[in-house]
Amino acid sequence: MSIEIDILNGDAAWPQVKPLYDAIWPPEVVAGLPWAGITFAHADLRVLVQDETGEVVGHAGLYRRVVTWNGQKINVGGIGGVLTRADRRNQGLATVALNAAIQTFRHEDSINFAILFCAEDRIPFYASRGFTPFTGDVYVEQPQRGRVRFDALSALVHDIKRSAPTRGTLDLRGLPW
Ligand SMILES: CC(C)(COP(=O)(O)OP(=O)(O)OC[C@H]1O[C@@H](n2cnc3c(N)ncnc32)[C@H](O)[C@@H]1OP(=O)(O)O)[C@@H](O)C(=O)NCCC(=O)NCCS
Repeated sequence: MSIEIDILNGDAAWPQVKPLYDAIWPPEVVAGLPWAGITFAHADLRVLVQDETGEVVGHAGLYRRVVTWNGQKINVGGIGGVLTRADRRNQGLATVALNAAIQTFRHEDSINFAILFCAEDRIPFYASRGFTPFTGDVYVEQPQRGRVRFDALSALVHDIKRSAPTRGTLDLRGLPW
């Protein structure tokens, strides 16, 4: 199997990625997930993993954000929407997409650390790929509700330019990813 990895503008690449989202997370599936009803940000960049026919079989969304950690402003990189098409799982594609996401942030001089949110049962998957649980509090913004505590998903961090904090208060100052 030959695969191609591209890093593309988030909005421009969305039509290519949407079928993968629709297949994995149709509305009836999302309704039963811990993050049902939460409004998420749109990715600034997207890692696309494409097969030999050009079809998108894997994806990771990248988000650039100035957050606060314990009240101090800091540039971080978000990673979200890590997806592999069901028939292409367990071949290392999500690992490839995550590595491409981390490398992209490493090339951007301003990103201090990366943040990802996942369901609790996925923590070991990310932990074996260099992510560490963030055990502090996370705040986000939601339409009509303003600033709210975000605990529907577990936060994980990954060192980029500097060591990522694992405690304290993170405020994403916007929608989660
Ligand atoms: C979670 C998800 C993205 C993983 O995708 P994936 O492409 O299967 O992930 P990988 O292949 O990189 O790793 C999965 C397993 O495959 C195996 N694997 C990894 N590389 C491999 C390779 N080169 N050859 C064979 N097997 C491999 C490993 O057993 C690995 O599990 P591990 O954690 O024990 O190491 C995928 O299951 C998915 O899309 N799930 C639904 C959406 C979802 O829940 N996304 C996460 C949101 S936080």
